[in-house]
Amino acid sequence: MPAVARPSLPRPAGGLRLALLCWYDRQRRRLPWRAEPGAAVDPYTVLLSEVMLQQTTVAAVTERFVTFRERFPSLAALAAAPLDEVLHAWQGLGYYRRARALHALAREVVDRRGAELPSDPDELATLPGIGPYTAAAVAAIAFERPVVPVDGNVARVLSRLVALERPLPAALADLRRLAAALADGARPGDLAQALMDLGATLCRPTAPDCTACPWQGACRAHAQGRVSDLPVRSTRAVRPLRHATAFLVRRGDGAVLLRRRPEQGLLAGLYDLPSTPWTGEAPWPSRDALAHAPPADGWRPLPAAVRHVFTHLTLEVRVIAGDSADHAAGLFVTPSALSGVALPTLTRKLLRHGGIRA
Ligand code: ADE
Repeated sequence: MPAVARPSLPRPAGGLRLALLCWYDRQRRRLPWRAEPGAAVDPYTVLLSEVMLQQTTVAAVTERFVTFRERFPSLAALAAAPLDEVLHAWQGLGYYRRARALHALAREVVDRRGAELPSDPDELATLPGIGPYTAAAVAAIAFERPVVPVDGNVARVLSRLVALERPLPAALADLRRLAAALADGARPGDLAQALMDLGATLCRPTAPDCTACPWQGACRAHAQGRVSDLPVRSTRAVRPLRHATAFLVRRGDGAVLLRRRPEQGLLAGLYDLPSTPWTGEAPWPSRDALAHAPPADGWRPLPAAVRHVFTHLTLEVRVIAGDSADHAAGLFVTPSALSGVALPTLTRKLLRHGGIRA
């Protein structure tokens, strides 16, 4: 069988690096976690931003990063805080597993490493919640290690630069090799961030702006008129659809019944509305659903349903409202106290669906 040629950079790495870094010096995005040129870089700031950016957009992280960092200004402050406080401060960022892992990381680094983050990407990747991408990003940006993190943006930029034929994600190994070839030189942190900025601002998934791109002359996809066709993707499995019915139970004083989710699984340890199990077949008939309901009266289904997309599934939730006796036991929270509870986005959506500001 003929060997498949390994993709290679279209020009020597040095020239590509220089063009990209010159562009970055003029066009870099100003982001709250990014050190100004020449300023010292704080590894904790880099780590925190990279963990927040794992599954959340730059715009959403920009809104919340400063407040979180002010509340927990160092790994030591984070390690000293109770987990519930950290989860509460994480609100709005979603994927709370990251907040738990970050808290565990802070405790481990403070207890066993004298509060110093390691600079080596392989060592960083042994810490809770740190995968190869985040390890490479922190090693490059915080410690100037010559590595390039490959996320979706960087993969797109490199796939186009070399006109990569093999579909993603199978081509990730090729992309990591190309990234390593580019990484070897001065200013690794800026190079990594320049690639991220190029992918986010010019080399966009649709409507890329090639005229402003520092790599336009080198880009094979551009030369072949195939920028919008790359990267090639293998057909993606559709997210399975799950159904549930949630119960919005209120007392006479307006307080809402919440429950704490189990410590394992999706939304572990966070508060949500009592509900049926999540199932795959069809929406729950109300009568079957009510077999899972907490004690209450006056049940009335609310119109329409709430849809929420998780990484691996889409959940459609119908809501049935009911009234509880004023002395009923359970975790009843008044609407004004809801802001003090770690509520995942799904729960907020369900409360809003029931007319409660959360
Ligand atoms: N996405 C992931 N890490 C990032 C960073 N440091 N800057 C901008 N976008 C990012």
